[in-house]
Amino acid sequence: MKKRLLGKIEVTEIGVGCMGFSHGYGDIPEEAYSIDAIRAAYDFGCEFFDTAERYGLPLRTEGHNERIVGKAIAPFRDKVVVATKFFFGANPPETDAGIEKLVREHLERSLKNLQTTWVDLYYLHRVHPKVPVEKTAAVMAKLIKEGLIRGWGLSQVEVDTISKAHEVAPLSAVQNLYNMLERDCEKAVIPYCLENGIGLVPFSPVCSGFLSGKVTAATNFNHVDDVRKYVPQLSKENMAANQPILDLVVEYAEKKNATPAQISIAWALKKYPNVVPIPGSKNKERILENLGASEVNLTDDEFRTLEARLEALPIGGRRGIVEFEGSKISDWGKNK
Ligand SMILES: NC(=O)c1ccc[n+]([C@@H]2O[C@H](COP(=O)([O-])OP(=O)(O)OC[C@H]3O[C@@H](n4cnc5c(N)ncnc54)[C@H](OP(=O)(O)O)[C@@H]3O)[C@@H](O)[C@H]2O)c1
Repeated sequence: MKKRLLGKIEVTEIGVGCMGFSHGYGDIPEEAYSIDAIRAAYDFGCEFFDTAERYGLPLRTEGHNERIVGKAIAPFRDKVVVATKFFFGANPPETDAGIEKLVREHLERSLKNLQTTWVDLYYLHRVHPKVPVEKTAAVMAKLIKEGLIRGWGLSQVEVDTISKAHEVAPLSAVQNLYNMLERDCEKAVIPYCLENGIGLVPFSPVCSGFLSGKVTAATNFNHVDDVRKYVPQLSKENMAANQPILDLVVEYAEKKNATPAQISIAWALKKYPNVVPIPGSKNKERILENLGASEVNLTDDEFRTLEARLEALPIGGRRGIVEFEGSKISDWGKNK
C-alpha cells in the first residue's frame, strides 16, 4: 500500500481501526477471528493499526482491545505502526510529577497489553479540563527521548489546543472525527496540520457505517454497547436528510467500480496529503474492502465535481470536533 507521513512516522495511507473488536458496535467476534482479521489486513499490505487502552469498556476490561492487537501483530511487530491512547481519568494529579507518573503508568500497561517495548504513536484520548495540554506535551517529549514512544498525538481538539501542545513537543498526528458528514476540521485544523507537518487521522471515516450504504433506518442500534444510537447523523430523521449525500457516494461508487465505503475513504485521501483514515470494522472482508480504497483513484475532475456537489448538500446532524474528557457520549451533537 502507498505510504504517508504522520509527522516523521511513515504509515500506510489507510490504517485499521480496531475498536469494534472490543467495543462500540454491538456484539464482538471471537478473539481468534479478530486476530485473524488483523493479520489478514497485514497480509493485504496494511501496516497501521489503531487501538486504545479504553477499548473494552463498558462490557469488558480496559486493555481488551490492546491485548487482541498485541497478539495479532506479535509475529510482525517491528513491521507495523501501532497507535494507542490513554485517558487521565477522574481526579488527575495537579503536580507535574504526578501527571508524569500517571502517564507512565498508563503507557506501561499499554506496552504490556500490546506485548511490545515501544508504542509508535501515543495519543491523549481526550484533553482533561484540569490538565493543561502543555503538561502532557512535556511528558510526551520525555517518553520520545527515552524511546518508549516514537511520536504523540491528540484527539478531538481544535487549533488552539493543537498549537499550544505542538510548541512544547511537536505532534505527529491529530485524531479527530472527520468524514463527508462531519467536516469542521477543514476550517482550521487541517490547514494548521498541513502547515506544521502534522498528520490528520480521521476517526469514523465512513460515518459509523452510514457512508457504506449498509446502515439504514431499519438497522438496530439497541445493543447496550452500540455508539451509533448517539451519532447525530444516524438518527432516523438525519439519515433521511443525509440520503442525498449517500446517493452521491453510491453514484460515484458505480462509476468507479468501487464500493460506497471506498469512495468515502478515497475522497478523504484525495482531498489532503496528510490525511490517513482508519476505518473500523469487526468483519474481515469489510476491513479488506476498506483498505482497497487505496486503489480507488479519483481523477482531479471527478474529485472537483464530487466536492462541488457535496458542498451543495446540507448535512443532517453534527457532533463537532472539540470534546473534553468527562463529557458524556449522550451529549454528542447537543448545544452546538
Ligand atoms: N479518537 C477517538 O475518540 C475515536 C473515536 C471513535 C473511533 N476511533 C477509532 O477510529 C476507528 C474508526 O472509527 P469508527 O469505527 O467509529 O467508525 P467508522 O470506521 O466510520 O465505521 C465503523 C462502522 O461502520 C461499519 N463499516 C465499516 N466499513 C464498512 C463497510 N465497508 N461496509 C459496511 N459497513 C462498514 C462497521 O460495521 P462492521 O464492524 O459490522 O463491519 C462499523 O459499524 C475505530 O475503530 C477506532 O480505532 C477513535
